[in-house]
Amino acid sequence: MSRPPLIDQFTRAGQAQVFAFFDRLAPEAQRQLLAEAAEIDLAEVDRLNRTLVLGRTAAGVNLAGLAPAPYEPLPARGGPVVEWDRAKAAGEVALRAGKVAAFTVAGGQGTRLGYDGPKGTFPVTPVKHKPLFQVFAEKIQAAGRRYGRPLHWFIMTSHQNHAATEGFFAENKFFGLDRARVHFFRQGRMPAVDFEGRIMLESPEVIALSPDGHGGSLRALDRSGALDLMKREGIDTLSYFQVDNPLVRCIDPAFIGWHVLRGSEMTSKMVPKAHAGEKVGHFCTQGGQVVVIEYSDLPARMQAETDATGKLRYLAGSIAIHVLDREFVRRMSSGTDGVALPFHRADKKIATIDATGNPVKPAKPNGVKFEMFVFDALPFARNTVVIETARADDFSPVKNAEGADSPQTCRDDQLRQFARWLKAGGVAVQTDPTGLPGKVIEVSPLFGYDEDSFAEAWGRLPVKPAVAEGLYLE
Ligand code: UD1
Repeated sequence: MSRPPLIDQFTRAGQAQVFAFFDRLAPEAQRQLLAEAAEIDLAEVDRLNRTLVLGRTAAGVNLAGLAPAPYEPLPARGGPVVEWDRAKAAGEVALRAGKVAAFTVAGGQGTRLGYDGPKGTFPVTPVKHKPLFQVFAEKIQAAGRRYGRPLHWFIMTSHQNHAATEGFFAENKFFGLDRARVHFFRQGRMPAVDFEGRIMLESPEVIALSPDGHGGSLRALDRSGALDLMKREGIDTLSYFQVDNPLVRCIDPAFIGWHVLRGSEMTSKMVPKAHAGEKVGHFCTQGGQVVVIEYSDLPARMQAETDATGKLRYLAGSIAIHVLDREFVRRMSSGTDGVALPFHRADKKIATIDATGNPVKPAKPNGVKFEMFVFDALPFARNTVVIETARADDFSPVKNAEGADSPQTCRDDQLRQFARWLKAGGVAVQTDPTGLPGKVIEVSPLFGYDEDSFAEAWGRLPVKPAVAEGLYLE
C-alpha cells in the first residue's frame, strides 16, 4: 500500500514514533493503528504539550481570589420555602411537558473498586442485589410514569466498556424501559504522552489512548448526535449524574425547577462536607464565577478553615450532580469564542514499549494523561445556581472496595433511607442511633423512589406488610 498521508502528518508534528513499527505490522494491525491515529487531534496535542507538559511539572491550580460559593439552602436549613415550592412546581411542569432527559456518565475505568466490568453492572441493593444501572433505570421509569411522559436516557460509555454495557442492557431487556429511549454513545479518547510530549504506544500496533474524562461528555453529546435528537424530541434540559451513586435522585423536580426559574445554563447540587478532608470538590467563586476546586487541589489548611461560628468556610461539597441546558452543551462543545473546557494533566504509570518494541511496566509515573472535568463548564455558564441537597437522599457513591464510599457504606445508606421512608409513613422500624435498621429490607424504585412517591404507594397498600428480614416492596 502507498504510504498513508497520516504518517506524514504525524512525522511533521514530531510524532513519527507512533509509526515506528508500522512496516513490520500485518495489514489488519496497520489499519487499526491508522484508525487510532486518525482519532488524534495533533494540533490539540501540540497545544497541550506546550501548555501542560513541556518544561513543566504537574502545576498547582490557581487559587487567587478564591472564596466560598453561595448556595440555596434547603428549607430545613433556613432556605426560602416559597421559592423551593415554586421550583418544585416549575420542575414538574417541565417534566410533564417532556422537556427533561436523564444523563449518566459511565465511561470511567472504576479501577479503585477493583471490579471487572462496566461499573454500572455492579450489584448494590441490599436484598435483590440490583446493579447500579437497574436502580437508575427503575427510577427513570418511575419518574416517567409519575409525570406521564416516559423519559429519554443518555448513557456515556467508553471504548473499553461500550459493547459490554449495551450487551448488559439487552440481556436484561432494558430493565423494562422502552429501548428506543435509551441511547448509548462513546466518549472520546486522548493519547498519553511522555514527559517530552511524545505520544506513547501501548504495543507496536496500539496507541496508549484513554478516556478524555467526564468533561468529554459535552463534546461526545454533540458529536454523537444526542443534542440533535434532544432538539427533535423537544428536550432542552439534561439531568446529569455519575454511575457510581445509586442514591441519586436522577429526576428531581425542585432541582430542575431552580434551573428553569433562574434561566440557568448549569445548576449543581452541593452537600455540606462531612468533615474538612472529605474527598469531594469544593464549590467556590473566583473572579465572579462559580468554580469547583478538587480536594486534591485545595490546600488542607483551606479545607479546614472555619468561620466565626466554627463552621467550615469551604463547606459546599460537589457531589457531581448537575442540570445542563442543551444549547449550553452545544456551545461548550463547539469551542467557538474561546469557550472550551480546559484539560487537566495527570501524571500516571503508563504501560508502554521500549525502542525495540518490548513491553515496559513502569514503577513510577512515566507519562501524562489528559482529562476534562464537567464542572469546569460552570464558569462559562450563565446564571449558575448551586442548591443544597440532603446527603442522605442523594449521595452515597460506590468508589472503593472497602472503607469510605464502598459497597458496604452504600448498602447501609440505602437501608437507612428505606427505614426513614417507612418511619415517615408511621411504621415502627427498629434502628440503631445512626438510623440503620436491624432488618435487611429493600424498596424498589418502581414502588417508591423518594419520600413523596413512597408515602403515596405505602398509603395505597390495602394490607401493610411487616418489616421483616428480606422485605422487598415493589
Ligand atoms: C468525582 C469528582 C469530585 C466529586 C466526586 C463525587 C472529578 C475529578 N471529581 O470524583 O469533584 O466530589 O466525584 O462523587 O470528577 N467518568 C467518565 N469518563 C471518564 C472519567 C470518569 O464517564 O473519562 C465517569 C465515571 O464513570 C463516574 C464519574 O465520571 O461516573 C466519576 O469519575 P471518577 O473519576 O471516579 O471521579 P472521582 O474522583 O470519584
